Amino acid sequence: MKIFIDTANVEEIKEVASWGILDGVTTNPTLLAREIKRTGRKPEDILKEICEIVRGPVSAEVTALDWEGIVREGKELAKLSEYITIKVPMTIDGLKATKILRSEGIMTNMTLVFSPNQALLAAKAGTTFVSPFIGRLDDVGHEGMLLVEEIMEIYENYAFETEVIVASVRHPMHIVEAARIGADIVTAPYKVLEKISKHPLTDIGIERFLNDWKEVMGG
Ligand code: E4P
Repeated sequence: MKIFIDTANVEEIKEVASWGILDGVTTNPTLLAREIKRTGRKPEDILKEICEIVRGPVSAEVTALDWEGIVREGKELAKLSEYITIKVPMTIDGLKATKILRSEGIMTNMTLVFSPNQALLAAKAGTTFVSPFIGRLDDVGHEGMLLVEEIMEIYENYAFETEVIVASVRHPMHIVEAARIGADIVTAPYKVLEKISKHPLTDIGIERFLNDWKEVMGG
C-alpha cells in the first residue's frame, strides 16, 4: 500500500519523507489556505517545493466548478511540476474535465467521493486516482470503510486502473483497515502517521534492553 501525507505543511512533508516511507501528498484548499496564512508564501511556491521533496504524485485541487474552468485551472497547475495531480470535485462538470485532462496526459484525483456509483463514474471518466472520504462518512453515522470495500470490488470486477486513495483518515485503525482491504493508497495527516510508528511496548523493550546492557557493560 502506498502512503501519502494529507497536508500542505512543508516541514511535515520533509519529516515524513526522511522516514523513507512517503509515496505522495494530497492537499486541498483548506490545507493550502492554512499554509498560505501561516507562512505568507504563494500557493505555487509551496506546491513546487512539495513536488521537489516527494517526487511522487502531489494532489493540487482546483477551485473552479465549471468544466472549462476546471480544465483551465488544471492545466495551469500541471505546469508547476510533472508530479502535480489535479484534484477535481466529483460533479458532472468534474467528470467532463477529468476526461479532457486525462486525454492530455495530466494525472487527476477525483475527490469528495461518498458513494460507489460516484466512484464507478470517476473510473469510467478515466481518473488516475479516486478519493473516498472515510472520516466524513463515519462522522455522519455511515461506516466509511464499507465504501472502500465496495469500490475495490467494483474496480476489480471491471479491471479499472484507477487507484483508490483512502482519504479523510482520522486514526490508526483506518490505516489498518485500508491495508487489510487492500486499498492502493492511504492518505493521512502527520499526527496519524506519527502514531502508527509507535507502540508503548517498543519503548519499554528498548529501555529494558539498554538497562540490562548497562548493568553489565557500564556506561
Ligand atoms: C483528501 O484528499 C482530503 O484532503 C482529506 O483527506 C480530507 O480530510 P478531512 O475530512 O479530515 O478534512
